[in-house]
Amino acid sequence: MLEVSNSDAISTATNLQWHAKDLLDTDTLTPEEIELVLTTAEAMHEVRSRPVGKVATLRGATVVTLFYEQSTRTRASFEVAAKALGADVVNLTASGSSVEKGESLIDTIRTLEAIGADVVVMRHGKSGAPYLAARHTSASVINGGDGTHAHPTQALLDLFTMRRHVGSLEGKKVVIVGDVLHSRVARSNLWTLMAAGASVTLCGPATLLPHTLAGQGEHGRCDVTTNFDKALEGADIVMALRIQKERQNSGLIPSLREYIRGYQLNARRLQIANPGALVMHPGPMNEGIEIAPDIAHGLGSVIEEQVTNGVAVRMALLYLITTARAR
Ligand code: CP
Repeated sequence: MLEVSNSDAISTATNLQWHAKDLLDTDTLTPEEIELVLTTAEAMHEVRSRPVGKVATLRGATVVTLFYEQSTRTRASFEVAAKALGADVVNLTASGSSVEKGESLIDTIRTLEAIGADVVVMRHGKSGAPYLAARHTSASVINGGDGTHAHPTQALLDLFTMRRHVGSLEGKKVVIVGDVLHSRVARSNLWTLMAAGASVTLCGPATLLPHTLAGQGEHGRCDVTTNFDKALEGADIVMALRIQKERQNSGLIPSLREYIRGYQLNARRLQIANPGALVMHPGPMNEGIEIAPDIAHGLGSVIEEQVTNGVAVRMALLYLITTARAR
């Protein structure tokens, strides 16, 4: 069994423990579990600020990144996170692996378990693929993005970044604008933000909005609107989503020019939001389409910080999940 070293004294000042084998989405996380991730991420953030920025807590653990789809941020930050904790890392992409020879997902995941993978971080174009993988391996599976379904580590790093700037999300208004219907980021963010007590407004063209998500939750609430200017009134945080250019070809938006006119986050629109509103984007950005370049790189933007915080949050998740496996 894997042993996790306590010698690095990662102090999270909480008695809560992580129990789940996998992290597949945020909808199964309790507010207490989300708090545990964020508190642990703060400890990891502190580790990263040290001159060396690494500990040997997960020495002996093997983390595999298995990516069937392109990624820069998620894959690179999981690799940096795992190495910062002293784990061994194996990076696999579908191209160049036996997936190209027709190997099934189940055979691939079992092969990775057979070579000693403790954690498999997986991205797949098909919604639900990580759930299938998790059922067929004793390794822990972390969903690094599946189809249009979920991107839990992105939502957790987004919440971590918000919290560092605005404190508690209780009663804060968060506007998520763009292709919400096809966004795994929006979906996973909705769960964490509602659990944190935020008021979430999903905004975009009617053809790109999931109207069924509107409603009052146990902690926060969700509104859905096509009126971006109205949505921005009283907003504390605005998150723009990448618009996929193929949406125009599939007839879901009339043209990119129309989209820009109605939904680009630009200087005029940002002035409608509360003074000092945070500007966020999960990346990769289409600057000049969903977000104006001066806003993407302006004073309120925390977009690069989201990427940096992704390492601390992914360290926290690898630490919590691997520690739970060793118990
Ligand atoms: N935000 C995000 O998932 O980025 P990548 O596709 O670069 O991993």
